[in-house]
Amino acid sequence: MRKRIIAGNWKMYKMMDEAKSFVAEVKGRLPETELVEAVICPPSLFLAELVNQSEGTSLKIGAQTMHDAAEGAYTGEVSPNMLADLNVQYVILGHSERRQYFNETDESVNRKVLAAFANGLTPIVCVGESLEEREGGKTVERVALQVNKAFEGVSADQAKEAIIAYEPIWAIGTGKTATAEDANDVCKEIRHEIGKLYDKNTASAIRIQYGGSVKPANIGELLSMEHIDGALVGGASLEADSFVKMIEVAT
Ligand code: G3H
Repeated sequence: MRKRIIAGNWKMYKMMDEAKSFVAEVKGRLPETELVEAVICPPSLFLAELVNQSEGTSLKIGAQTMHDAAEGAYTGEVSPNMLADLNVQYVILGHSERRQYFNETDESVNRKVLAAFANGLTPIVCVGESLEEREGGKTVERVALQVNKAFEGVSADQAKEAIIAYEPIWAIGTGKTATAEDANDVCKEIRHEIGKLYDKNTASAIRIQYGGSVKPANIGELLSMEHIDGALVGGASLEADSFVKMIEVAT
């Protein structure tokens, strides 16, 4: 059975004291369970503090992006080994906002996925189609291509540990959620693609999240679907109450 994973992507929100208050509140309220992983991905400035603050609890901390190089003249960037050195465990890669505003491509996402594994980080690899692609019937083709590119050079053992987040771009921050059935259909196709790239075991081990306007009111239905193993949550992960509620529903 795949362990569910609910990850909060805070994007560029919160001040340090708000981030610390969130963790202080949430860490005491998370249900004791082996069935669900709870992850918060804060802005990179807060990573060291939140890793320390959540030590010894079940709350895990992830980054929202990283460079693929170990070091170098890359002003403003953070390297995979810097994240690993801080005991960050997860890293979101290829989020559609990174692809749209920061020129990330399938190729650069692949380099980052390889660098994440090389440094012991678990990548949360984001894929998803635009509204135009969905309306043009291109969803599966687009998502399959992103998966194939992202996993180039990744071994089956590594792929089993990876997380894929299916996030239809038109559902992000819009209040529009894909129906649970539609989301499940695409997640099933993603699993099928992993099966073609690797094997049946890898396909059934890899965890696939849905993302796009997930909140306490709709997470239960999404998680009831066979191929949806968790959620990557933006807006609704910013409030401690709502984050804890989603973990409780997932448990
Ligand atoms: O990474 C999270 C997604 O972009 C979803 O954001 O829950 O605010 O729609 P949202």
